[in-house]
Amino acid sequence: MAEGDLTLKVQRFDPTADKLPYWQSFTVKPRPGMTVLDALFEVLNHQDGTLSFRFCCRAGVCGSCAMVIGGKVRLACETQVAQFVGKGDLMLSPLPHQPVVKDLAVDYTHFFDRLKKVKPYLVGKEPYPEKEYIQSTKERQPINDPIDCILCGSCTSSCTMAWTNSDYLGPAALLKSYRFLADTRDSVPDERLDIIEGESGVWRCHTQFNCVEVCPKKLNPTEAIQKMKIKAFKRKLFGRRGTKK
Ligand code: FES
Repeated sequence: MAEGDLTLKVQRFDPTADKLPYWQSFTVKPRPGMTVLDALFEVLNHQDGTLSFRFCCRAGVCGSCAMVIGGKVRLACETQVAQFVGKGDLMLSPLPHQPVVKDLAVDYTHFFDRLKKVKPYLVGKEPYPEKEYIQSTKERQPINDPIDCILCGSCTSSCTMAWTNSDYLGPAALLKSYRFLADTRDSVPDERLDIIEGESGVWRCHTQFNCVEVCPKKLNPTEAIQKMKIKAFKRKLFGRRGTKK
């Protein structure tokens, strides 16, 4: 291995062929601007064509390339390899507590099933406007951040409550629920609160902040969950008509 090279230690696992995951080392030559995703492509194209990982946009937008990089959940396409050179092997493994499809690619089925439960879409108010719904800057402010969620799954994969309770909606789905609950154009806040205050909803959150720590978009699912707890609590006190956005 030449000076300046970087060894990637990649967790390999093919559920159809392997009994247990194992580590495999590959050496890459970092170049300026090289990301971890670029390094994985270097391996795929020149060293081992069987390596599996997921990607799409290569620009931190689609959320497909989330994995554990150097002990922390990050997006491979946004993580520069230069910061790891000279610091030992760079360990790469799939998102924790998700079924592995192969190597670094995990199965998002359960993640998206939980997302679907919170109605991740706007239910507009009738009568529907002839053109667009108008929102003031002030009305838009509460959803400015949550709307940026790219559904990479980093938060839910890092949440210990989601690890121990597979029914728990988890931070990503709850943040999505908040995104519509706080949207002045939405018409079903009570229906949304019914979903998130259930057995598998906001009260399962133990405010550990793991989701905040790993979010590549610097979002704050924990804060959104706390705000929904307040909304749910107020509704208990004042009844449905007391629910305010
Ligand atoms: Fe789309 Fe990384 S490839 S976020």
